[in-house]
Amino acid sequence: MTTGSVRLVLFGPPGAGKGTQALYLRDYLGVPHISSGDLFRAHLQQKTSLGNQASEYINQGLLVPDEVTIEIILDKLLTLQPTDGFLLDGFPRTEYQARILSESLTTKSKNIDKVIYIDVPIDELIKRLSNRYICSDCQAPQNLNPSDSKTCTVCGGELYQRADDNMSSVTTRLDVYQRETIPVLDFYRSQDLVITIDGTGPINCINKRVQSQIEKWLTQ
Ligand code: AP5
Repeated sequence: MTTGSVRLVLFGPPGAGKGTQALYLRDYLGVPHISSGDLFRAHLQQKTSLGNQASEYINQGLLVPDEVTIEIILDKLLTLQPTDGFLLDGFPRTEYQARILSESLTTKSKNIDKVIYIDVPIDELIKRLSNRYICSDCQAPQNLNPSDSKTCTVCGGELYQRADDNMSSVTTRLDVYQRETIPVLDFYRSQDLVITIDGTGPINCINKRVQSQIEKWLTQ
C-alpha cells in the first residue's frame, strides 16, 4: 500500500493531541485531514443552520446527534476517489457512527486500515485543554500561558480559546468520551485495527512514535 491511499482514524480523548498530530501526519502521508470538530466550527463561524443546530451541543460538551454528524462526514468522504486515503479526526465517536462508516466505506470502496489511539492520562488532558488556543486562520492548536502573544506561530493568524474549553464543558466531554466513545475503541479492537501510542511527552516525540508504527505496519 502507498502512503497516499492509507485510511486512518485518529482516536483519543479530548485534548489527546489528535489535531496536533494530524497536521504532521497529513503532510507525511499526503492525505486529507478530515476533522468533524473543524467542520462543525466552520459552520459555527459561518452561522449556517447546521452550525446553529450543533452549537448548543458543542458548547455544553455533548455530542452532536449522530444523524447530523454522519451526514456532514459522509458528504466529505464521498467527494474522494474510491482509492484515496484520508485521516479522520474526531469521527467516529459512537459505535453507531463506526458501524455506519464501515458499511458506507465497504459499499463504495475500502474500509479503514488502522486506528491510531493516542493514550493520555486525564490530569494531562485537563492541563492541555485549559491552555489551548486555536488559530482562526489555519486552525493549528497551540499551548499558551495567559501572558503569551496570541499570534499563531504557524501562519501569524489570530489565536482564540474555544468556547468548549471551559472547565464545565471539559468535564462533560471527558465523561461523554468514557461513556459513548470508548465502545468505538472496543469495536475496532475486535477487528484488530488499533495501534496504541503513548501520547505523553514532547509533541515531536509522539509524532515519531506514530510515524514509526505506521512505517512498521506499512512494511509488514
Ligand atoms: P473536537 O474538535 O473533535 O474536540 P475533541 O475530540 O474534544 O478533541 P480536541 O480538539 O479537544 O483535542 P485534540 O485531541 O484534537 O487535541 P489538540 O491536538 O487540540 O470536537 C468538538 C465538539 O464537536 C465535540 O465535543 C462534539 O460536540 C462535536 N463533535 C465532533 N465530532 C463529533 C462526532 N463524531 N460526533 C458527535 N459530535 C461531535 O491538543 C490539545 C492541546 O494540547 C493543544 O493546545 C496542543 O497544542 C496541546 N498538545 C498536544 N500535544 C501535546 C503534547 N504532547 N504535550 C503538550 N501539549 C500538547
